[in-house]
Amino acid sequence: MKTLISSDVRLLANLIQEGKVVIFPTETVYGIGASTKLEVACLRVYEIKGRPKDNPLIAHFHSIDAIAAVCELGEVGRKLLEEFSPGPLTLILPKKDKSLFPKDLETLAVRIPKNPVVREWIELSGGPVSAPSANLSGRPSLTKLTDVLRYFDGVVDGILEAEEPSFGIESTVVSLVGKTPALLRPGSIESKELVSILPDLWIPETTLKNDSRTIPLSPGTKYKHYAPSARVILASTEEFTYSLKTMKESKTTAWIGFIEEAVEPNGSSERFAKRALGGMAWFCPVSSNEDYASKLYAFFESCDLAGIETIFCEVPKSGRGEEGLRNRLEKATGG
Ligand code: TXA
Ligand code: MG
Repeated sequence: MKTLISSDVRLLANLIQEGKVVIFPTETVYGIGASTKLEVACLRVYEIKGRPKDNPLIAHFHSIDAIAAVCELGEVGRKLLEEFSPGPLTLILPKKDKSLFPKDLETLAVRIPKNPVVREWIELSGGPVSAPSANLSGRPSLTKLTDVLRYFDGVVDGILEAEEPSFGIESTVVSLVGKTPALLRPGSIESKELVSILPDLWIPETTLKNDSRTIPLSPGTKYKHYAPSARVILASTEEFTYSLKTMKESKTTAWIGFIEEAVEPNGSSERFAKRALGGMAWFCPVSSNEDYASKLYAFFESCDLAGIETIFCEVPKSGRGEEGLRNRLEKATGG
């Protein structure tokens, strides 16, 4: 199949209207989308990803009014969207328009991406666009066009060329369906920011815990998300620094963290960097939790390409950006 790779929003909107599958960047990660109104097109997204059918998709909208037209938004939902949208917040809402995908669910996950070009494309598509993250099921989400092309060029109908993701981890998911609002997935918008509007926000234990550890006998990799093929070790700063000092000659080990002080300042960092493989150094310095999140998935991808077997990830700094990043790192350790 020939994939149309273009920044022409009209051309790519036509593809969605024709029931085709299009990959597009959001501020968080790339999405792989189809019209929420066309079930067959949405089911093709599942096929391409190898995604279990019981995992519903997020519908991406261009405006709050477009959401209110098809869902029970309510006062609190509207307040949340006014405060945090366009941006990395997904709300689970009761569905008014039962014809939208997935038809068998009473609820719909909705979000408005930050990039105006992407919103224009969604509007031209006749909106909404249902999309999970653009990755093979169980693998980390993708944040670089080059990685998207490696997996999906020739597989999807179109790829929208627009600004690459910068946040790097998937949106915060909040359910407004039950009596108590619940945080279903942490992200860059943190629970402490949400409590001003949702003072009774409930954080279920399963949201923050690594499921594969709490259910050690769970079959297969059902609960393993966001993980590269390499083994991921979440290390304290002391462990991280020690491993870096003692194992840096290992050709199958990589590091991501607040590396500055960990690499000796006497020029050996340069020697270290020379061991880059396929253009990618085996360590990835980060300057903040936000910077860490934005680089994490692309680093995982590079490590797998390079045949790295073990990745040491330094624990995030406490404070801003920690919640979502720590959750993804814990998930990536797999258990
Ligand atoms: O940042 C993001 O959210 C990215 C970009 C592309 O928007 N999308 C993304 O989609 O991460 P995905 O499919 O990888 O994750 C969607 C999450 C899943 O955990 C799914 O189970 C949950 O949202 N979800 C979707 N619809 C739901 C519903 N009706 N009720 C409960 N959870 C739902
Ligand atoms: Mg995903």
